[in-house]
Amino acid sequence: MPKKLLIIGGASLVGSTIIDYAKDNYEIFTTENNTPITNSKVSSIKLNLLDDKKHILDYIEKIKPSAVIHTVAFPNVDFCESNHELTDLLHVKITKDISEICSSVNSKLIYFSTDAVFNGNNSIPYNELDRPDPLSYYGKTKLEAEKIILQNTNNVILRTTVIYGWHIRSRFTNWVLDTLKNKKPVTAFVDQYNTPTLVDDLVKSVFSIIEKDLSGLFHASGKSCLNRFEFAQKLAISFGLDKNLVVPTKSSDISQIAPRPKNGCLDSSQLEDKSGIKFNEIDSGIDHIFSLSNKSTTNSNKV
Ligand SMILES: NC(=O)c1ccc[n+]([C@@H]2O[C@H](COP(=O)([O-])OP(=O)(O)OC[C@H]3O[C@@H](n4cnc5c(N)ncnc54)[C@H](OP(=O)(O)O)[C@@H]3O)[C@@H](O)[C@H]2O)c1
Repeated sequence: MPKKLLIIGGASLVGSTIIDYAKDNYEIFTTENNTPITNSKVSSIKLNLLDDKKHILDYIEKIKPSAVIHTVAFPNVDFCESNHELTDLLHVKITKDISEICSSVNSKLIYFSTDAVFNGNNSIPYNELDRPDPLSYYGKTKLEAEKIILQNTNNVILRTTVIYGWHIRSRFTNWVLDTLKNKKPVTAFVDQYNTPTLVDDLVKSVFSIIEKDLSGLFHASGKSCLNRFEFAQKLAISFGLDKNLVVPTKSSDISQIAPRPKNGCLDSSQLEDKSGIKFNEIDSGIDHIFSLSNKSTTNSNKV
């Protein structure tokens, strides 16, 4: 019997890539909100978690998946900073209900958290033992969700950062590439560092976690710690675009509603050791998406 996997948010960057990588030994169930899932190997239901929480709880109870992969969150940290109640509802309250139902049917819950649980003052990449101290409301609610989910020791938290791929939902890389292709300037921060994460690596680690039945808190990100300016310049060079259009900018030059950690770099060596999956350095990760761009001219991965 194939293992049943439920992806909450099947059209997400992570969720749709999981669908792409799933082998025949998985039966895939998903939820869709605004983006229809057209993949024939998937059973999907339409639901908005904010309007109809009971639907997802009933669905989990009915399917009893081996694992539930919860990818739904507000992607915009500034929106979260200005909308506390909605953010609490989606990130914390609904996640708590999902976590409880998963425990009651013995489904492993895998949840994606963020570097924004840290204040960014570390001088080196953060590991799992470093003390969280979120600056933004997004980070605070993600940390709360982590604590709830980890009450069940079978569950998994993957803290990740700046996920990218050759995909319509790869926000930073698409913005940089589209702007440069239009010969417009890209303003990119020199004082916000991350370890950008190739979505393919993240997804491979999810399958390894399920297959090896790993549990607990892991950092799950790429190996190279660099700032957004450096990332944008590397993209420009690899895609043959004008790197001089990438304009170095300081966070203090642009007003952003939510505070961001200066250092959002994560150390994923623990997950690499346990899962056997090696995360890419930035150069090989960009090479990967460049090679995919030669195969398909649009980055509109279908779901
Ligand atoms: N992307 C990053 O760089 C990054 C970094 C750190 C952590 N994370 C975390 O990783 C996880 C996955 O991120 P991602 O970038 O793959 O996500 P994403 O592409 O932004 O997709 C978000 C998903 O949430 C669904 N959704 C949004 N509002 C919903 C609602 N009210 N009810 C039901 N579904 C709803 C969307 O469905 P529809 O499209 O159908 O509306 C979509 O499937 C998230 O928890 C995120 O916080 C991401």
